[in-house]
Amino acid sequence: MFQKNSEITGTESIDWKTLPFGYLKTDFNIRCTFTEGIWSELEVSDSEYFPIHIAATGLHYGQEAFEGMKAYMGIDGKVRLFRWTENAKRFQISAKGILMAEVPNELFHEAILKAVKLNQRFIPPYGTGASLYIRPLLFGSGAEVGVKPSSEYTFIVFVSPVGPYFKEGFSPVKIAIVRDSDRAAPNGTGNLKVGGNYAASLRGIAKAHSFGCGSPLYLDSKDKLNIDEIGAANFFAIKNNTYITPKSDSILPSITNMSLIQLAQDLNLKAERRPISIDEIESFDEVGACGTAAIISPIGEIKDIENNKIYRFCINGQPGPISLKLYNTLVGIQNGEIPDKHNWTEIIELN
Ligand SMILES: Cc1ncc(COP(=O)(O)O)c(C=O)c1O
Repeated sequence: MFQKNSEITGTESIDWKTLPFGYLKTDFNIRCTFTEGIWSELEVSDSEYFPIHIAATGLHYGQEAFEGMKAYMGIDGKVRLFRWTENAKRFQISAKGILMAEVPNELFHEAILKAVKLNQRFIPPYGTGASLYIRPLLFGSGAEVGVKPSSEYTFIVFVSPVGPYFKEGFSPVKIAIVRDSDRAAPNGTGNLKVGGNYAASLRGIAKAHSFGCGSPLYLDSKDKLNIDEIGAANFFAIKNNTYITPKSDSILPSITNMSLIQLAQDLNLKAERRPISIDEIESFDEVGACGTAAIISPIGEIKDIENNKIYRFCINGQPGPISLKLYNTLVGIQNGEIPDKHNWTEIIELN
């Protein structure tokens, strides 16, 4: 019924193994609108553009939230989604947090399945390290002047084949502590996946880059004493056979982190979610960044420029053994190589 996008050359020309983490045009995206309390039917579009009212609240007042998840081609030729209900739940929490209409689970599920199925020729082959990134987004599309919630919302899902988030892949990365800008305020929206947090993080990212690092390490924005998170990933550390990750109201609850906590416990590690003082860094055996995009990025160096300190991990450039085990287990479940005993994956029936 739907014709593939003739502007796109065959996917044979895509070098899956060197694919960056970025946007690549695919055939179709999915859209629908919430007006007068009702969600419209899902529409399929082959356009990358969307006409938007000049007074839309999403443009002026930042009423916008998004999600990030992936479809993985498995060793058995089956395509898997990972814990999509957690993304749907977080999308609803983000919407509620900035007074937007919530996308119900069934609509979310139908939209992501449609987006993956209609773009199935863009699902990277098994073994390439690439996957199909799924980006649901929601924004106030109704016109308002004066700060108030919109009366209309638009929900869109597009996909893009992506390679690893950090160009180093599963190799140690460098991060820099940033103190002179904050991505989130105490009692703000740091625990939501809303666009404003990412706008607020851009200065920190630029600063980390200027120090030769891939991402900023944010501390709690009030006292700058405890570790919050790393760019668009959560922080974890390993010490004394324990997986430790920050407890903070201003970080995004990562679905990858939640899964790693479970996998760590499955490996007979203890797991702790608690405030982590910056002074504790030196005592860690392994540190890492985790998220859908990066899965796990082992951290090789944490630079504290203001205090003229560099904390070093990953001796001989090798990721720590527990990070490696956790990474292989999670990737193995997503790729269908390891039994999914927690029922985290859903197989998508392609036609
Ligand atoms: C700020 C932030 N923290 C953490 C994460 C990791 O979350 P997840 O594992 O659900 O992708 C993300 C990515 O979504 C993020 O944007």
